[in-house]
Amino acid sequence: MDDLGPVAWPPAPIGTDRLVLRVPEARDRAAFIELLASPEVHTYLGGPRSRDELERELAEVPERWPGSFVVELDGSMIGQVLLRRATGHRRPAAAGKADLGYLFLPRAWGCGYAAEACAAALDWLADALPGEPVVLTTQSANAGSMRLAAKLGFTEVERFEAWGAEQWLGMRSPVAPTRH
Ligand SMILES: CC(C)(COP(=O)(O)OP(=O)(O)OC[C@H]1O[C@@H](n2cnc3c(N)ncnc32)[C@H](O)[C@@H]1OP(=O)(O)O)[C@@H](O)C(=O)NCCC(=O)NCCS
Repeated sequence: MDDLGPVAWPPAPIGTDRLVLRVPEARDRAAFIELLASPEVHTYLGGPRSRDELERELAEVPERWPGSFVVELDGSMIGQVLLRRATGHRRPAAAGKADLGYLFLPRAWGCGYAAEACAAALDWLADALPGEPVVLTTQSANAGSMRLAAKLGFTEVERFEAWGAEQWLGMRSPVAPTRH
């Protein structure tokens, strides 16, 4: 994965009804470690990283690039939405396209926050890179992620085997509605 290319950050944090999407800050470090070390979050993502290793290796200010959003609720990070360029994607239908990823802390699941945040990030992308389709890869066994993908307007391109499991590749056309 690479960054999106020539796009700038939104000039200000993006506000939704309940959330704020913004650049990562040094104060998010503990939440990043919680997110990346969580076995529950990584059930369908190849397993978590070690908390000790993250404590040692994670930069003081988590990496920033346009499209890497921290999602904040009431002043604290609850998750991350990532829009990257799927340069090295193994499926030709996805290679080089804008790619959506999302990770939320388990305590924030089941409230519609991921859907709200992803819709806002996709709206930002639609303005920043008009006409671009967006792809998304998730394990088909990841029921929450599959429901979220459908809610956001992604439709199936194909299923394929990789990383020891069936993967679902979805695509969202540039005209699909995201606003609620
Ligand atoms: C995938 C993931 C982001 C989904 O989170 P989520 O909270 O289930 O997703 P949503 O924001 O769509 O919330 C959905 C639920 O909130 C409920 N909800 C409660 N209040 C709501 C509200 N005000 N508005 C909308 N939905 C609401 C919905 O009923 C819905 O439940 P359902 O999906 O069982 O019908 C989360 O499980 C996660 O972070 N997983 C680990 C990382 C991962 O696997 N990522 C995928 C790889 S890209």
